[in-house]
Amino acid sequence: MLTLIWAQDEAGLIGAKGTLPWHVSADLKFFKEQTMGQTILMGRTTFIGMGERLLPKRTTWLLTKDTHYQVAGAKVFHSVEEVLQASLGQDLIVTGGAKVYENFLPYADCLVQTVLAKKFSGDTYFPKVNWDDFQLVTQVPFTDAKSGISGYFNTYHRK
Ligand SMILES: NC(=O)c1ccc[n+]([C@@H]2O[C@H](COP(=O)([O-])OP(=O)(O)OC[C@H]3O[C@@H](n4cnc5c(N)ncnc54)[C@H](OP(=O)(O)O)[C@@H]3O)[C@@H](O)[C@H]2O)c1
Repeated sequence: MLTLIWAQDEAGLIGAKGTLPWHVSADLKFFKEQTMGQTILMGRTTFIGMGERLLPKRTTWLLTKDTHYQVAGAKVFHSVEEVLQASLGQDLIVTGGAKVYENFLPYADCLVQTVLAKKFSGDTYFPKVNWDDFQLVTQVPFTDAKSGISGYFNTYHRK
């Protein structure tokens, strides 16, 4: 099973200057629950935006074209094909960013989308999804206690 997980604002924004445009604890908690114990894949830009720190209790795969790039405790891949080959027979959760989502969207079985009911400013958007290919299986509303931001956790399966 290949899953893409992301949080966006109501216009599809996902990033600003290499990091997240918001701090929404409820979504970070949701992300943690969804990815705990799993193998996650991210692009080098996203990893740098996280301060190049590995998330605990998850197996991290990184994608870069740089064949010299190494990170202790992570596995580094250099092409989509290499990742797909390695993920055969196991679950993989793609955690961004935009370029990596775009590369793996054609192979996604499941989309786990947080939609924040607000508009933020930034520079990076989730790629265009052909929603006809997916069906909504769960939709859970939430409100973040600290920021007051509300939204939905949506899960889609490929039809
Ligand atoms: N809201 C969310 O849920 C969410 C989640 C994740 C990230 N983000 C945000 O998204 C933004 C980053 O997105 P981004 O699109 O700029 O960067 P990205 O997708 O994180 O990383 C792009 C980099 O990944 C590597 N890469 C991508 N495709 C590749 C391929 N086919 N083969 C080999 N390497 C490949 C390349 O690294 P090299 O240049 O090293 O070759 C490329 O420059 C940040 O603002 C981040 O905070 C948001």
